[in-house]
Amino acid sequence: MKILVTGGLGFIGSETAISLIKAGHTPIIVDNLYNAKASVVNRIEAITGVRPEFHQIDVCDKEKLDELFSQTKVEAVIHFAGYKAVGESVSKPLMYYRNNLDSTLSLLECMLKHDVKNIIFSSSATIYGSPDSVPLRETSPRKEATNPYGQTKVIIEKILEDVSKVNEGFHAVLLRYFNPIGAHPSGLLGEDPNGIPNNLMPYISQVSIGKLPKLRVFGDDYKTVDGTGVRDYIHVLDLAEGHVAALKALDKDPGVYIYNLGTGRGTSVLELVKAFEEATGIKIPYEIAPRRAGDVDAVYANCDKAYEELGWKAKLSIKDACKDSYNFQKKNPNGIED
Ligand code: WQD
Repeated sequence: MKILVTGGLGFIGSETAISLIKAGHTPIIVDNLYNAKASVVNRIEAITGVRPEFHQIDVCDKEKLDELFSQTKVEAVIHFAGYKAVGESVSKPLMYYRNNLDSTLSLLECMLKHDVKNIIFSSSATIYGSPDSVPLRETSPRKEATNPYGQTKVIIEKILEDVSKVNEGFHAVLLRYFNPIGAHPSGLLGEDPNGIPNNLMPYISQVSIGKLPKLRVFGDDYKTVDGTGVRDYIHVLDLAEGHVAALKALDKDPGVYIYNLGTGRGTSVLELVKAFEEATGIKIPYEIAPRRAGDVDAVYANCDKAYEELGWKAKLSIKDACKDSYNFQKKNPNGIED
């Protein structure tokens, strides 16, 4: 299938493009390079032997997007493009609502104009808010998100449900990611955040190469195994394979399909630090710091539905992810160069 991949040079998008190529599909990558480097195209080619078609387009630019849809018969869209830094979204809500919603509305209008009725959306466990209970199932209530970034995911899920209702033959697959970590084993691709990392794994990775002095553990008084926050960390390669598996839902009856993409296991901050040290032999210095606003005790998934309906489940371990993250960071101490 010819598949338009918006945000396809990003951390998850680029790994998904690789999985699509390996499965015999043709990804057409669109990215505005706000949070990605053009050189990722070369790295995808180095890994797969295939140079994917890439267009530097902002998904909010309806004219350019319309032109692309006119030139190429796209069969499905995987929509990653969007700002994703939780903390930044709190300080810049308008930027997040404008970009993440505007891009999605422009994309959907272009899709429908060109009779493209298959979309796989990069959603997030953040739509569950502060869970009443864990593990989270797809039937767990979608809640008001605790930040504008998460709220854009809640709103976009609702937009896709409403669009699907009134457009015959429309398929929307909502993939709710838990905590993506890891990197491509080659060390050519990995998580490459701008500035100081917000997320735990890239922060630990930068500590491991001495780029940051030590890890601050945000709180050790949560109701968890060791008092530190528990999350469901999924290797980005497993997550990418989840998108290839999600294409199977496009063969089902039209409608909205929702899947949790996680491992089904919770890991605490200190357990992740220990796993990283065991996987790499590198000591990670840390100090206990105050809780971070908006954090919750424990979030992890029940992924039975993705296995039963798509035949997908995560295969790689936390240690695999730690090893791959360290390998990527060591080979790219200043991130992916242009
Ligand atoms: C994980 C744990 C922190 C950094 C966010 C988004 C979610 C998704 C993944 C996009 C928590 C602790 C972290 C640090 C720490 N992103 N931590 N020190 O907050 O679970 O999820 O990123 O879809 O939508 O909400 O991920 O990696 O920031 O935090 O102690 O320097 O690590 O308190 O318990 P989070 P995270």
